[in-house]
Amino acid sequence: MIGDLQRPDLTVAVIGTGTMGRGIAQICAQAGMTALLFDSRDGAAREAVTAIDKALDGQVAKGRVSAEAKKGFIGRLRAIGSLDEAAPAGIAIEAIVEDLAAKRALFCELEKRIAPDAVIATNTSSLSVTEIAAGCGDPARVGGLHFFNPPPLMRLVEVIGGLRSDPALVEALTGFVRRIGKHPVVATDTPGFVVNHAGRAYGPEALRIVAQGIASPREVDLLMKEAAGFRMGPFELLDLIGADVTHAVMVSIYEQYFGEPMYQPSAQLAVRVAGRLLGRKTKQGFYNYDGTPVASPPTIAVGAQPKPASAWIADEDGGRELAEWLAGAGVKTQVGGTPDAGALCFVTPLGEDATSAAVRLKLDPARTVAVDMLGNFKGRRTAMKTPLTAPEALGAAVAALSDGAAVTAINDSVGFVVQRLLAMIVNIGTRIAELRIAAPGDIDTAVEYGLNYPKGPLSLGDTLGPRRVLAVLDGMHAVTRDPKYRATAWLRRRALLGVSLLTPD
Ligand SMILES: NC(=O)c1ccc[n+]([C@@H]2O[C@H](COP(=O)([O-])OP(=O)(O)OC[C@H]3O[C@@H](n4cnc5c(N)ncnc54)[C@H](O)[C@@H]3O)[C@@H](O)[C@H]2O)c1
Repeated sequence: MIGDLQRPDLTVAVIGTGTMGRGIAQICAQAGMTALLFDSRDGAAREAVTAIDKALDGQVAKGRVSAEAKKGFIGRLRAIGSLDEAAPAGIAIEAIVEDLAAKRALFCELEKRIAPDAVIATNTSSLSVTEIAAGCGDPARVGGLHFFNPPPLMRLVEVIGGLRSDPALVEALTGFVRRIGKHPVVATDTPGFVVNHAGRAYGPEALRIVAQGIASPREVDLLMKEAAGFRMGPFELLDLIGADVTHAVMVSIYEQYFGEPMYQPSAQLAVRVAGRLLGRKTKQGFYNYDGTPVASPPTIAVGAQPKPASAWIADEDGGRELAEWLAGAGVKTQVGGTPDAGALCFVTPLGEDATSAAVRLKLDPARTVAVDMLGNFKGRRTAMKTPLTAPEALGAAVAALSDGAAVTAINDSVGFVVQRLLAMIVNIGTRIAELRIAAPGDIDTAVEYGLNYPKGPLSLGDTLGPRRVLAVLDGMHAVTRDPKYRATAWLRRRALLGVSLLTPD
């Protein structure tokens, strides 16, 4: 039996009042509930109430909350010195240390003190809700409420039922999330749920690109922001979250999926963690935060060259659009046919590297440059060389592409930078759909709200075109033979049928 989480006098107990717990308590008090705060460290719960008071003062100063309302919120917060005082709670939300044994021990203690129909929710980000619940006398009333940091600002809460949860629990928790003004997304009890699972593409693939010397962290960040429209580049994000936290999540999800190659962590990041280059918190990460930033040299020094008078372009996906760009820059173009001797040759591969495209099309690799046309992004363009591309050819290509846009020159790579990252985001999104972790629309909402991407992975795939995304992945897979680039059956079926990636089975 699950108690009523909508009753007007619902009391919430928040256990663990660190970063997450205090934010959760604040939201509950603001939603009109009494929030009891408990922490095992002496004085920590009172400190949390003081911190919430200060945070709310900031809201009052900005005119977002009236002084009167603030008084009401603070009046509903109560620091308690013993778990016994949690007895009146209709729901207990746990936000203690991320440790299975500690959470199980706490839940056993809680069970003895709260009403038999009171709900226990864990805010775990990486442990299994079912496994935590299995340590309880009554696992039926245990579920997951996964808040995001900082809870008062982040709209999303993932709701997770354990395998032995009461069938009514997920609905009760979903209603509770709405009651506190947040957006619930229901996810199955799987590693990383939706958001931390979906996040396994952006950082890890960017780290692989840098490890392979294709582009620098700053170049990858600029491309993802200026070409693909992301608010933060993957390396800025890594520095913000902390390399230690990100590495731990990467390892945890990889291990919980028993070594699935798609989630392979980065050996290079592990060394950075060992060396304490953690990002903002240690003032040194992929960027420096203690003084003037050191200007990072471009991966490829492109010499200034005049624009070419003419260029040949392969008649493939994106070729016509590229011809328009170049014509706009005053370059005479020939699309398809045989290139003139000595002509600068442009290719627009999907997933294939510049070398493979040059060899397949029987072009002179010394005169071949690849341009990323996926998405027709105009803010920043990518020019990719083969190992044999002559510096003059690359310089001329960059000069031709620089008309009205910034250009990043990169070393040869399957899927450039943007294609690679976007295709991985879409592919992992479709894997989440395929594994029935959440409904397709909910996957997109969770990623938009939880990761702040411009679009959810399935809508992103629809915008780029499922066939193109499939071509990128198939191309990457064909060149590298690396199983992490195999497309999901969910993606392949919808691409073949020409329908939206949001189409359910
Ligand atoms: N920080 C995040 O971005 C984030 C986001 C989502 C979920 N989470 C999850 O939320 C939980 C808490 O994370 P946090 O970042 O707030 O940690 P934190 O270290 O800031 O706070 C944890 C608090 O729990 C207290 N505590 C530890 N063991 C306890 C026990 N047995 N009983 C009572 N109190 C105890 C500590 O004294 C501390 O005040 C973890 O499970 C974490 O995985 C964190």
